[in-house]
Amino acid sequence: EVGKGAMRQKYHFMAEEGWLNDPNGLIYFKGKYHFFYQYNPYDSYWGSMHWGHAISDDMLHWEYLPLALAPSETYDNHPKGGCFSGSAIEHEGRLYLLYTASTIYGDGFVQNQCMAYSDDGIHFVKSEKNPVIAAPPSGYDVGEFRDPKVWKHEDYFYLVCSGKKDELGQALLYRSKNLEDWDFFNVLAESRGEFGYMWECPDFFPLKNANGEKYVLTFSPMGVKERTSIYLVGDMNYETGKFNYTTVGNIDWGFDYYAPQSFVDQSGRRILIAWANGWDWMPWWKDWGPTFKEGWCGSFNLPREAILDTDNTLKFVPIEELRSIRKSVEAIHEKSIIEKGERLIPTANGNCFELKMTIDLANSTADSFELRLRSNDHLATIATFDLRKQMLRVSRDNSDDWSQGTTKSNLLLKDKATLKIHLFVDQSSIEIFTDDYKTNHSLNVFAKEDQNKNYVSVAEGTLVIDQLETWELTKTM
Ligand code: FRU
Repeated sequence: EVGKGAMRQKYHFMAEEGWLNDPNGLIYFKGKYHFFYQYNPYDSYWGSMHWGHAISDDMLHWEYLPLALAPSETYDNHPKGGCFSGSAIEHEGRLYLLYTASTIYGDGFVQNQCMAYSDDGIHFVKSEKNPVIAAPPSGYDVGEFRDPKVWKHEDYFYLVCSGKKDELGQALLYRSKNLEDWDFFNVLAESRGEFGYMWECPDFFPLKNANGEKYVLTFSPMGVKERTSIYLVGDMNYETGKFNYTTVGNIDWGFDYYAPQSFVDQSGRRILIAWANGWDWMPWWKDWGPTFKEGWCGSFNLPREAILDTDNTLKFVPIEELRSIRKSVEAIHEKSIIEKGERLIPTANGNCFELKMTIDLANSTADSFELRLRSNDHLATIATFDLRKQMLRVSRDNSDDWSQGTTKSNLLLKDKATLKIHLFVDQSSIEIFTDDYKTNHSLNVFAKEDQNKNYVSVAEGTLVIDQLETWELTKTM
C-alpha cells in the first residue's frame, strides 16, 4: 500500500504523497491509460508545480511512474510557478504534452504555453521552440493565460486555453499544423460577468445524440458562487472558429469538483475526471487543512462518462469499471416503508461503499427525506431530498471538524414515478448522483473512522423504498 494516513481515499485516485490538484494530459496511449496531475512532490501544499504520472488498465488500479515534467527552464522554474495544467495528444506514435509555463517577474505572473514530447510515454523532452505560444493576444492579461487543451480536427490541431480581458474570463481558440507553430483563431466563448473573471481549465469536445453532433465547452470559473464547473452545449463552426451555445449547466453542484478534463477512452467513451477540491475550500496558504498532517492533499473524482441527452443537457455517469471493485453486497429487495423515523442503511463497511436506491414517489406521502451519511451520535453529512420544493440540499456543516457549507440544486421530479439515487462514499469524500445523472453533488468530508453509520430518515409522512443496494468497495493498487 502506498502513502499513509487514516483519511486517504480507498478507491479514488491520489498521488503517493504530497500535494495534487488538476488532472492533466489524460490519454489512452499505446494500450494504457495515462493520468498526469498537478503535483508538488516536496510538500502537501501547492507550489513548485510538476506533472506527476501514473498508468492504468482500467482507470482504477494504478502504477506510479517517474515525474513527467519538472520546473527546469527560466520560463517555468519558480517556487510559485512551474509546469501548470495542460493536456496530451498522440501524433505519429509520439506523445505530446501541451502545458502552461508559469513564472513570476517582479510581483506578477507571466504565463505562456509550452510543449514536451515522448516516444516511450515515460521520458519527456521539452521542445526547443518553447514557449510555443509566447503571450496572449494584445490587450489580454499576460499572467492569466493558461491550461491548453489540445485536439485534432481534420487538417489542424486546435487548442483552447483560458484568457482574461477587461477583468472577464474567456476561452481562447488557437490552431496549428504541427503542434509547434500556433495561431490565435478566435474567442470560443466569454463571460459577460455571469461566468466570472477567469475560466480555468477549459475543455472543448464533440458529443453525439440521436439528433446529431454538438460541441461542449467545459471550464471552472473563478468568481462565481455555486458553480464550480460549468458546461455549455452548442454548435461549432470550424470555418469561422465560432461556437454558439444554447444550453448552460453545472457538471456538478458540490464544493469539490474542479478543473475537469476529458479524453476519449479505448472504447470511444468521453470520460471526465476532476480534481476533488476547489480553491475556496482548500486553504493552501494556511497549514490547518485536515490532511496536511498526513502528508498529502488532494484526490480525483471518479471518472464519469459524459452523455448528451436528446434535450442537449448532459449526464455524467460513473464508469462501469467501478463494478469490479464491489465486494460484499447488502440489499433490501422487497418494498419497504419508512414511517416517520429513521432506518439504518445496511452496509458491509459504512465508510467506503456504493449505494443505489429507488424511491416510489407515487406512493410516498413524505414532503422530504434525508440521507444521513458517515454519521456517529453527533456528526453526519445530510443530503435532504425535498420532494415538494423539488430541491436537493447537501449539508456538511456538521460533518467533521473542518468542512462547512450547504450545496443546493433543483431535483427534476416532474412527471416522474420514481426517484433514483446512486452514491459513492470513500474515506474522505461523498459523490451523489441523481436525476438520471444530471444532478450531481461531490464533496469532501473528513470524517473519522467511527462515523460509520448511514440512515434514511423521514420527519413526516411515509417514504416508500422500492429497492436499496449497497456494496463495500475496496481495491489494491
Ligand atoms: C486550476 C489551476 C490552473 C493552473 C493550475 C496550477 O486549479 O489554477 O488554472 O494551471 O491550477 O496548479
